Order: sequence, then structure tokens, then C-alpha cells
Amino acid sequence: MCGIVGVTGGTEVLPNLLDSLGRLEYRGYDSAGVVLGAAGLPLWRRRRAFGTKSLADLAADTGTAPPEATWGLGHVRWATHGRPSETNAHPHTDCSGRLALVHNGIIENYLELGDHLSALGHQMASETDTEVLAHLIEQRMSEGAGLEDAVANSMTELRGAFALAVVHADEPGLIVAARRVSPLVLGRTEGSAMVASDIPALLGKADEFFVLDDDQLAVVRPGSIVVTDSNRNEIPLQPRVVEWDLQAAERGGFDDFMSKEIHEQPTAIADTLLGRLLPSAGSPPAYRALHLDEERLSDEELRAVDKVFVVACGSSFHAGLVAKHAIEHWARLPVEIDVASEFRYRDPVLDSNTLVVAISQSGETVDTLQAARSAAAQRAKVLAVTNVVDSSMARESDAVLYTRAGPEIGVAATKTHLTQIIALEILALYLAQVRGLFYPSELAMLLGALGSLPEKVARAIERGGEVEAVAQRLAGVRNFFFLGRHVGYPVALEGALKLKEISYLRAEGYPAGELKHGPIALIEPGSVVVAVATRTPLWEKVLSNVAEVRARGATVVLVANEGDDETAALADEVLWVPAADSPLLAPVIDVVPLQLLAYHLARAHGNDVDRPRNLAKTVTVE
Ligand code: F6R
Repeated sequence: MCGIVGVTGGTEVLPNLLDSLGRLEYRGYDSAGVVLGAAGLPLWRRRRAFGTKSLADLAADTGTAPPEATWGLGHVRWATHGRPSETNAHPHTDCSGRLALVHNGIIENYLELGDHLSALGHQMASETDTEVLAHLIEQRMSEGAGLEDAVANSMTELRGAFALAVVHADEPGLIVAARRVSPLVLGRTEGSAMVASDIPALLGKADEFFVLDDDQLAVVRPGSIVVTDSNRNEIPLQPRVVEWDLQAAERGGFDDFMSKEIHEQPTAIADTLLGRLLPSAGSPPAYRALHLDEERLSDEELRAVDKVFVVACGSSFHAGLVAKHAIEHWARLPVEIDVASEFRYRDPVLDSNTLVVAISQSGETVDTLQAARSAAAQRAKVLAVTNVVDSSMARESDAVLYTRAGPEIGVAATKTHLTQIIALEILALYLAQVRGLFYPSELAMLLGALGSLPEKVARAIERGGEVEAVAQRLAGVRNFFFLGRHVGYPVALEGALKLKEISYLRAEGYPAGELKHGPIALIEPGSVVVAVATRTPLWEKVLSNVAEVRARGATVVLVANEGDDETAALADEVLWVPAADSPLLAPVIDVVPLQLLAYHLARAHGNDVDRPRNLAKTVTVE
């Protein structure tokens, strides 16, 4: 996830770009850059990579910018390909430096395109997927196409997701923008026009707003926007009504970042899957294999692994519990799991055939970082699963699998937790694949099931109104039990953790079968038990455990699959979710109503859901 912006027309191009980039910083802040055009001059470009200070640093270094600039582009980056550095920061240019572009998304076939373009003599300066685009467009222009046609032709050669904006020193005032999957909006006034990743970047600057659809291309000049479809037919522009004030707009119209981030989960999952499931030829394409792009461990080394350890804290630990099921079941490898703060103090037995999977959204949690370091000291291979490119854990590990959730601002992990589960399921399937444990048809079925998750998670989120109504009926309750079995157990733990941290209510997560060994003594009339009762392997046993608490007067809330009336008959309240196509994928969907339950209960108690008391987003002390 990155933020892009382009402005053409008017005299305030640079201040406008910098101001819009400030509003887009929530999309990425590991580097920032701008390029400016002034008729008759070469393009002027500045880029900075100083983490959260990148944009401020960039703004302070614009003294040599041409005052007569009338068009330009800007970018804030959330690194996916290539570490955060000035060289990898956008805008990227072609060989001549006369063409520049900014991009949000992931070009899946950039290696293939890059090899082809390098063979034609193009020189790449960065490690990014984006730069390849600049050279591809340059190549098409060298073959005779104008800028618009070169961008349009290039689009047909791209796989993956992109929102991009391109300028050329020889085309004063022109911005060519295009998108597929990644968002792009357009704004216009009488004498100027803009493109950006989202509406907040344009608020107060445009009189009219438009949204570009997939595979459309926009030719943007001062006061004029012309949009064409993939056949280059002009599309009539439909202005959008925008009623947001700036503050609400930065949260995408949501009341807080937590709900915004919950709603971003389908996209975050799709982004995390992007480029990692390889489709077969044919229509519709079926998935045939997995591909891990940031792996630095060879398949040979992964084949030699005979034991896996998972280390993590909090929500990341809960994702790790799902990984234990997935790796044991699919890859048939023994998996041990520890909270990271315990791992290195208990003398675990590791060697060079041990794979330690360190999971951390931030990549900086000191307990997990130290656990990974102590594993590396024992010659184990360390694979980090993290959301932050170039974080300490990413840098120090043998291999990294990035979640691509974009920045998470709410303290409670939501979209990063779901994407961790996705990344870990991909890892489990990959291990199974390199160990030759799948029939192609079985793998294709599982990859198809993964591919269907964004839509199912979106459906679970759409039921948020029903969850809110349940939360309102439970608003007076102070003690909750969360039960689950098999992969439902980590879901129960995550549901309980979310409720504790943002609503400050007592919430205990248990494996449902363990209840009768002690905790059931706490159940009395009025106790609320939330159980994950979707159709996963131990569903019947969960229902028996639910019957036990029901018989003791508990109010029962069940997470159940849509249409499962048999399960609903045991419940006082039902949180409906779509069924997963494979039981091991169910946690990704089943945790959503529990996030929403915690969210609505916290709001009912008047809490600040984004900044819960006593907590920090990244815990860098032991
Ligand atoms: C829960 C939460 C924390 C983190 C934990 C680990 O909502 O945010 O429990 O999951 O502090 O953080 P990372 O994943 O950054 O290592």
C-alpha cells in the first residue's frame, strides 16, 4: 500500500503535492518523493527515505525546485519490493530521466519484464517492481507511441495491481493515469486537475471528483480529464458526491481507524495473496502452484527442515496457533509454539534443520526479536512473518514473508492478524508443496479456497450491523468466556484478547474441552459464553461443550455458518459467517464477528478504540 498524487495546472503545484502527501501518509511513510515539470526544463525530482520523517525531510529540501513548475507527481511509500531507501523511493524514471512515474500496487511479472527490458539495453537503478514500468513505457515510446498510447499498451503487458501516474518532460501539463485493482480518484477545477489514491488527498482542492475503474486510463490536463476504457473508447465522466470533512476523510469516512482497518481486511488479504498463487492458463484460471517472492531460503533448505518452532506475542501468537495446525496437517512437520517471551528462557532444542517462524506485525517486538536472535545463535533457520519491510526482524532473518496489510494505526491488531494467518497458511502449503505432499488437484482446490477468502471476509464484515445489535444487548455484561476447539481455539483466544484490550471487560479464552476440568465452576446464570461453532472438524464436540454451559444457565453466543439452523438452535445470539471452503481457513472468517463484537462493546462503553489505555502498538521492552 502506497499513496500517489499528481497535480497539473495552477501555480501551487509543489505545496499542493506536499499537502496531499501529508494526507496520504497513513498509506505509507518509509519514503517520500516528488517530481515537478516546468515547460522547457528537465524534470526536477527529490526523494527521501527517513521513515516517519521522510515527508518532512523532503519538504525541507525543495529550495531548488523550479518556481515555474506547472505539473508534478508525489508518492509516499510502504515498501513491498526493495527495502526503503532513496534509490527505491518513487517517482521512478526511465533511462533518459525525462519520463517519471509513481505507482501503488504490485507488478507480479516485473522480473520477467525487467529481464526482457534489460536485454534491450534498459538500465534499472532500483530493486523495485515499479521502475520496470518506467522502462516499459519508455520502450513503447521509442517504438513510436505517444505517452498515452505507450501507457495503454504497457497496461496490457502487466500482471498484478497498479494505480499509476506518469509524466514526461516533453509533454508539458500532461499526466497519464491508469489503474487495475489499486484505487485511483480524479479531481478537477476550472484551471487544474489532480489524481490521487483517495479522496482525502484532494479535499478542498477540487470542485468535482471522479473514480477511475479497473483497466481505465485517464488523460489529465489543467481543467480537463478524459477517461477511456481498455479499448480506448471514451467513457463519460460521472462526478461523485463527497460529503466528508478532512478529518473523517483521513479515516476513509469511518469513525476511527479500527473500523476502517477491519473494513480494509478483504483488500489486505487479497494483497497478501497477490503474486503468491500462480494461476494456470485457461479460463477461468485455476491456481496450480505457490510462489514465495521474498524467500531467501532455498527449496532445498526448506526440504531439509525436520522441525518447526513458532514464536510470537499477542495476536501474532494466535495466528501462530493456526499455523501449527496448518503446518502439521499439510506439511506433516512437527511444530512447537511458544509465546516469544518464554521461548529463549526454556532452553529449546534447535539445530540447523529447525525452522523458527517469528511472527510480528511490527517486526520490532523485542520479545520476538530476541527469540529469533537466540534461535539464529543456535543455527536454526529463521523466517520472519511481518508487515513492516526492513523492520529489525525482516533484516535479521534468513527469510521474510511479508503481510501486505498496509500501515495499521489502531492499537488493536485486526487486518495484520488476518493477513498473518494468510501468510502462514501460504507458508504451510508451500512447505507441503516442496515436500511433494500434494496432488496437483488437492493443491489447486486449497489455493482456490484461499482465493475466495477476501469475498467471504467482506460478507462477514457486511453483517456488522447484526453484531452491533448483539453488542447492544450484551452491553451490561462484565464477564465473558470465549470457547473454541481445533482452529476455533485460537479464534476464541483472539476474540477474548480483542475484548479485553479495547473494552476493558474480563474475557477468558479456553479450549472448549478444557472447561470441564475447572473453569466451568465459574459458569452461573448470567455468564456469557461466546463459542466458535462453525463447521470445523470438532464442531459436534463444541456443541456438546456449549450444551454443558447452557445447562448451567449461561447466555450463549455462537459464531455459526450461515444457514446452520442446527447450531443456531443452541444459541441465545448468533454471529453468522460464511463457511470457509477448507476447515483450516475458517479462522480468517470466524474471527471477524469477534473483532466487531469487541469493537461495538468498547464503543458502547464509551472507550477510545484506537488508543486503549495502558497499551502501545509496538512493545519494545521486555
Ligand atoms: C493485540 C495486539 C498485541 C500484538 C503484540 C505483538 O491486538 O496488538 O497483542 O499482537 O504486541 O505485536 P507484534 O505483532 O508487532 O509483534
